[in-house]
Amino acid sequence: MKRVLILDFGGQYNLLVARRVRESGVYCEIKSYRISMDEVRDFAPDALIFTGGPATVFDEGAPMVDKALFEMGIPVLGICYGMQLMMHLLGGACRRADTREYGKTELRQSGDSPLFAGVPEKAIYWMSHGVEVERPAPGFRIIASSAGCRHAAVENAEKRLYGVQFHPEVNHTEYGRQILENFLYSVCGFTREWTMASYVEEAIAECRAKIGSGRVLLALSGGVDSSVAAALLQRAVGNQLTCIFVDHGLLRKDEGDQVEEVMTRQFHVDVRRVNAKDRFLGKLAGVTEPERKRKIIGEEFIRVFEAEAKKIGKVEFLAQGTIYPDVVESGLGGESTVIKSHHNVGGLPDYVDFEDIIEPLRRLFKDEVRQLGLELGLPEALVWRQPFPGPGLGIRIIGEVTEEKLAILREADAIFREEMANAGLDRTASQYFAALTNMRSVGVMGDERTYDYAVALRSVQTQDFMTATWTRLPWELLDKVSGRIVGEVSHVNRVLYDVTSKPPATVELE
Ligand code: XMP
Repeated sequence: MKRVLILDFGGQYNLLVARRVRESGVYCEIKSYRISMDEVRDFAPDALIFTGGPATVFDEGAPMVDKALFEMGIPVLGICYGMQLMMHLLGGACRRADTREYGKTELRQSGDSPLFAGVPEKAIYWMSHGVEVERPAPGFRIIASSAGCRHAAVENAEKRLYGVQFHPEVNHTEYGRQILENFLYSVCGFTREWTMASYVEEAIAECRAKIGSGRVLLALSGGVDSSVAAALLQRAVGNQLTCIFVDHGLLRKDEGDQVEEVMTRQFHVDVRRVNAKDRFLGKLAGVTEPERKRKIIGEEFIRVFEAEAKKIGKVEFLAQGTIYPDVVESGLGGESTVIKSHHNVGGLPDYVDFEDIIEPLRRLFKDEVRQLGLELGLPEALVWRQPFPGPGLGIRIIGEVTEEKLAILREADAIFREEMANAGLDRTASQYFAALTNMRSVGVMGDERTYDYAVALRSVQTQDFMTATWTRLPWELLDKVSGRIVGEVSHVNRVLYDVTSKPPATVELE
C-alpha cells in the first residue's frame, strides 16, 4: 500500500493535512522534520508532504531537512513553510513580504498544471504568511499567483516537486480537497487504497502477531474507542481478551445494559461487569465540589478496576483505546507542542500487573475508528455514540450526586436525545445532553404549587472540543423537549437552554 510521510514543522494544521490525505483513501503518518534519513528510508514513503510552520526559513535555527529527501525520486508537496524551505534548499530565495497575507485571498492559476486540474482559473484560497518566495529554485515555474504574492504555487513537473503558499487542507480554500487529491492521484498516481474494509484484516493480523498466546485486559467504558478496540481484539485473539466494565452507576439510561448486551451476546467478549453504583455513591455522598467529585470518581474507578484485575491474575498486555490525534497531540507523533497530555498516552498505569501495552487504534482518526467499528459489525447506535466523559453523569449534576437526582437526569437526558434523533440533529450536533442544575424554583402544575428542579439542556458545535459554540436549535424542538421533560419527569418544573459558548463556559457543567 502506498504511504505518504508528512513532515511536521510545527504548524497548526498538520493533523488536518493528515486527515485530508486519509479521507482521500491514502495512508499517511506525521513525523517530526528532525527524523533522520535512515528513518525515512525505513518508513519507505511513496510521497512527502511538508506542512507549514511558524519559523522563518532564513532565521538562525530554522527547521531544516536533508536535501537528499528531494533526490529520492518521489513526489513532494511543500505547504507554506514547507514550500519556502524547498525553494531555499534547492537554490531559490525567500524574503520577508512587504505585506503579510492573511485570510481568504483570490488566486489565479495558470491552467496547465496537473495540481490545479478541474479548478477554476480564479478561486479563493487561505493564506497565512509573512515570508514569500522571491525567486523559485532552478527548474521550477510559477503555476499560481495572487495580487500580493507572485509565487503562490510553483512546480517542477519533471521531478514532481510542488510548492503552494496557501493551505489546501483548510475548508476556506475553495478547491483545497481537489488540489490535494490532484497531488495524490494525478501527480503521485495513487488510488483509494486505504479503507477500513481493507484495514480490518491487517489490523487483526498485527494484533495477533504482537499478542501471540498472551492474555489481554481492556477497560470497557461503553464509549466508541474502547468498544471498537474490544471488538477488534476479540476478532484477533478470541477469549485471550478479558474486558472489565466498571459500571459506576453514573451512565446514561440503559447504557450499561446495552454495552454488556452487544459485547457479550453479539461479540462473545468475556466481559466482567462490576456493578459498583453503591460504592461510588457512598464515596460521593455529601461532596459538592466539582474537582473533588472528579477525583473521587477517578480514584474509585482505579480501585474497582484493580480489584477486578487481581482476580484475573497476570496478563501480558493491557489494551488501550488510544487514537492517532491523542498520539500526535501528546507531542509523540510530530513536532507540535504538547496541546494536552492525554491520559491514554505515555503514562503507564502501575495498578495492573502487565508486561506491555497494546493500542490497536493508535494509527486511526476518530472517523476511521467509527468506520472500523461498522466494518466489525458494531451497531450504528454504539458507533455514533457522542463523547461521554469518564466521570459520567457525576459531573452533569451540579452539587451532591444522589440516586434521586441521577434518576431525574437519566430520564430528562433520554427524552432530549430521543427528540434530537427525531429531528435528525443527532449527528449534526457535536455533543448534546441534559444536566441537572442544583436550583429549585416555584412552578404550578394543575392547581398545585411546585418547588422542583431545573434541567439545563446543552448542545454544542465544535471541531476539536477546545472551543465550541452553542447549537442554534429550532424553537419547536426546544418547546417539545421542554414540554415532554416537565410532563414526564417527576420533580422537574423548569427547563433551561444553555446559550454560552466555550470559552468562557466549558462543554460540561463541572
Ligand atoms: P469541557 O467540559 O472540558 O469538555 O469543555 C470538552 C470535552 O471533553 C469531555 N470531557 C471529558 N472526557 N473525561 C473524559 O473522558 C473527563 O473527565 C472529561 N471532562 C470533559 C467533554 O464531554 C467534552 O466532550
